[in-house]
Amino acid sequence: MSSNRKLKISILRYDPHIKDDKARMEVFEVDEAPGMTLYIVLNDIRKHMDNSLKFDFVCRAGICGSCAMLINGSPGLACSALTSKMDSDITLAPLPTFELIGDLSIFTGNWMRGLNEHLETWIHTESDKDFNILEEVMEPELAEEIYELDRCIECGCCVAGCGTMQMNENFLGAVGINKIARYQLDPRDKRDDEDYYELVGDADGVFGCMTLLGCEDVCPKNLPLQSKIAYLRRKMLQIGK
Ligand code: SF4
Ligand code: SF4
Ligand code: FES
Repeated sequence: MSSNRKLKISILRYDPHIKDDKARMEVFEVDEAPGMTLYIVLNDIRKHMDNSLKFDFVCRAGICGSCAMLINGSPGLACSALTSKMDSDITLAPLPTFELIGDLSIFTGNWMRGLNEHLETWIHTESDKDFNILEEVMEPELAEEIYELDRCIECGCCVAGCGTMQMNENFLGAVGINKIARYQLDPRDKRDDEDYYELVGDADGVFGCMTLLGCEDVCPKNLPLQSKIAYLRRKMLQIGK
């Protein structure tokens, strides 16, 4: 079954590495096909109309987080966005906040790496690793809760959709707060609440969040960001007192 729609794809083009390049909207017309995603549209444009178009993808399955962009003004994953669910006029732009490589391609890697190094997002333990003994037992419900938060794919959508982030570039964002919520749950991590307070107990962390919840609305993995931010804020308030 074929669709008769013609899609009008307007893309914000700009490459900061090309001398004197000017930001502009360029419009491409694409014949819609059944099951078409924006990833397929962009590939089509690059293959048949303009091979200089820059955008990112790796997995094409909503797992790697690299195809995040502004879709009609809202952060989302191009590989998961079905054109059949959209109007035929579609506008695409790169996610704000992150370093622009060119057109729709951004570099989230250095931002996320800085965040992970700052928050030390690894298990802090005193015990030596002994690969001959069985790993510590964890209640399945707790393991499930940790796994739920571990599903973050570092796509940057929550960062791009966050009003606080636009005003405070040091803000950790929902992605950072979610990571701390994940380690705070984990009994193998020997950091205590005071240690976590040092990391997120200020205006760059949980107390900077304005709770408008743009982050949860745009998170493509549907992480429970709202409840985790609220929980951590209550916890940090107790420690602060
Ligand atoms: S709830 Fe907090 S972290 Fe989420 S978008 Fe709003 S200010 Fe940003
Ligand atoms: S919390 Fe959600 S929106 Fe934010 S980086 Fe992780 S997966 Fe993306
Ligand atoms: S290409 Fe991996 S999430 Fe879209």
